[in-house]
Amino acid sequence: TYDATLRPRALEEYIGQEKIKGNLGLFIDAAKGRGESLDHVLLYGPPGLGKTTLANIIACEMGVSIKSTSGPVIERPGDLAAILTNLEPHDVLFIDEIHRLSHVVEEILYPAMEDFQLDIIIGQGPSARSIKLDLPHFTLVGATTRAGLLSSPLRDRFGVISRLEFYTCEELATIITRSSRILGIGIEPQGAEELARRSRGTPRIANRLLRRVRDFAQVRAEGVITRSVVQNTLKLLEIDEMGFDHMDCRILLTIIDKFGGGPVGLDTIAAAISEESDTIEDVYEPYLIQNGFLNRTPRGRVATLAAYQHFGRIAPQGAQANL
Ligand code: ADE
Repeated sequence: TYDATLRPRALEEYIGQEKIKGNLGLFIDAAKGRGESLDHVLLYGPPGLGKTTLANIIACEMGVSIKSTSGPVIERPGDLAAILTNLEPHDVLFIDEIHRLSHVVEEILYPAMEDFQLDIIIGQGPSARSIKLDLPHFTLVGATTRAGLLSSPLRDRFGVISRLEFYTCEELATIITRSSRILGIGIEPQGAEELARRSRGTPRIANRLLRRVRDFAQVRAEGVITRSVVQNTLKLLEIDEMGFDHMDCRILLTIIDKFGGGPVGLDTIAAAISEESDTIEDVYEPYLIQNGFLNRTPRGRVATLAAYQHFGRIAPQGAQANL
């Protein structure tokens, strides 16, 4: 995957998400102390914040294997049954995009999570039979962008539910400095700070940009990442002062220029920029909302005063000063 070598493998190496880290460390120690499997864990939050990384760390800290899959990949009950019956005791089963499991597969998962029982029907018609199998005690780690996307029976079966937050600039700068060390490129503190500030609170973005900044430093500069190296690289990549990329800008400018600043419905914005509503809502909006550039109102999305100012547009009377 994109940065297999940059992902931390132990909880101790993992930077940020202090609350989750503290809680998970405690629950893992307790489960290990009792010789039991860890309770099922649901991780939710915007993409790129480290849900997959945490799932791998949980397995590593528990000293067990991890089997990884994703909601859309498990098409039929038999697919899930095959995975479940192949687990060793206390193993971690990681299901990414768990909100995309089909209804029939979800039904299999309930007794598996709750009683470590597999209930499947084999055959069809009058000869169909229901069989029950005992499963090893395993830990399901589920990941999704929004907890609200899960049905409540599924959500209720997780013992630990944690929301990942955007990282602070300081945390991102620490991650960037660590990654630079692993990649073998020098970086000045001002370079790390500038890149951190423009990475939208997201380590995956920081690490992706870091690789491009490293290319630039190597070929067009003296092999060290300085603030100006970061500035010049991000100009080439069309990432602006706030770290907004092309899509962030299109979303905000569409609301401002085409819809008078809003309120405008999500689906209308999606149609105007030919992007999926879900992608806008799950990938782009959270950072814009958290940083006060976009507001979600009952009547639709609204560009804030800060958004107008960022793009040098004159705000209409009553544009919200949302901070
Ligand atoms: N790389 C990506 N995310 C990270 C994190 N949270 N801590 C350390 N390194 C990382």
